[in-house]
Amino acid sequence: MERNQECKLVKEWIVEVGNYIRTHIHESFEVAEKENRQDIVTEMDKKVQNLLLEKIRTTFPEDKVLAEENGLSEIEEMSGRLWIIDPIDGTLNFYFQRENFAIMVALFEDGIGQLGFIYDVMNEQIYWGGKNIGVYRNDERLMSPKNTALSNGLLGINAFMYAENIEHTRDIADKSMGVRVYGSAAIEFIHLLHGRIIAYLSNLAPWDWAAGSVLAEELGLEFSALNGGELSFDTRSYYIVGTKELMKEVRETYMKC
Ligand code: IPD
Ligand code: CA
Ligand code: CA
Ligand code: CA
Repeated sequence: MERNQECKLVKEWIVEVGNYIRTHIHESFEVAEKENRQDIVTEMDKKVQNLLLEKIRTTFPEDKVLAEENGLSEIEEMSGRLWIIDPIDGTLNFYFQRENFAIMVALFEDGIGQLGFIYDVMNEQIYWGGKNIGVYRNDERLMSPKNTALSNGLLGINAFMYAENIEHTRDIADKSMGVRVYGSAAIEFIHLLHGRIIAYLSNLAPWDWAAGSVLAEELGLEFSALNGGELSFDTRSYYIVGTKELMKEVRETYMKC
């Protein structure tokens, strides 16, 4: 299938599933605890993942899938085509606020990000694009954000990493103009694509960073593990994405590389 046809199809799937969420948004949902009491999954997370999975498996039966819920969170190797799904990013926001959450889907080929999709469900905005095709909000092409230096912008930050100064997070943040915490990696990426924040530092699983990284990179932003090493598809990583200027300063001053 051609790239633009693939994009169109995946966008239609995600919007359809997002419409399903909005239709049910005021209902009460069953919720279960995962690793700790702040790590929850609702029946809607699982439902959304299953709906997307069914579409991917029917249309692309050869492709692999890595997804947060329902036992699909491990992958043996990265060769070939791999879809990475976060059915609801910002589950706590979804559950307690009924907004500020998003669906994220990415396509990787042989470990390289090709396509990314982030659907801000309650605002009905889909961010999508990929390698050499640009980045769009619905039908509008986004320009690259300004290449702002660390000292001149706001940063999206994981609060725990800030408090504990993990991998110099607090030192980096204190050089900026201020920090923001949105409770959803997807929403942080959206602010980043628009240049409303100039970097995002967090502790992320691959489905949290996959789609956003593809879109950010296509707009000239850079991302890596916060210690300068490789990002892992097996586990969470301390992650940073930001403008080239900011990444240069962080690399030179704080990364062990
Ligand atoms: C979480 C959110 C949160 C980030 C966590 C993620 P989930 O994803 O993106 O903002 O701090 O690290 O796990 O569990 O709501 O999909
Ligand atoms: Ca989760
Ligand atoms: Ca997530
Ligand atoms: Ca999730």
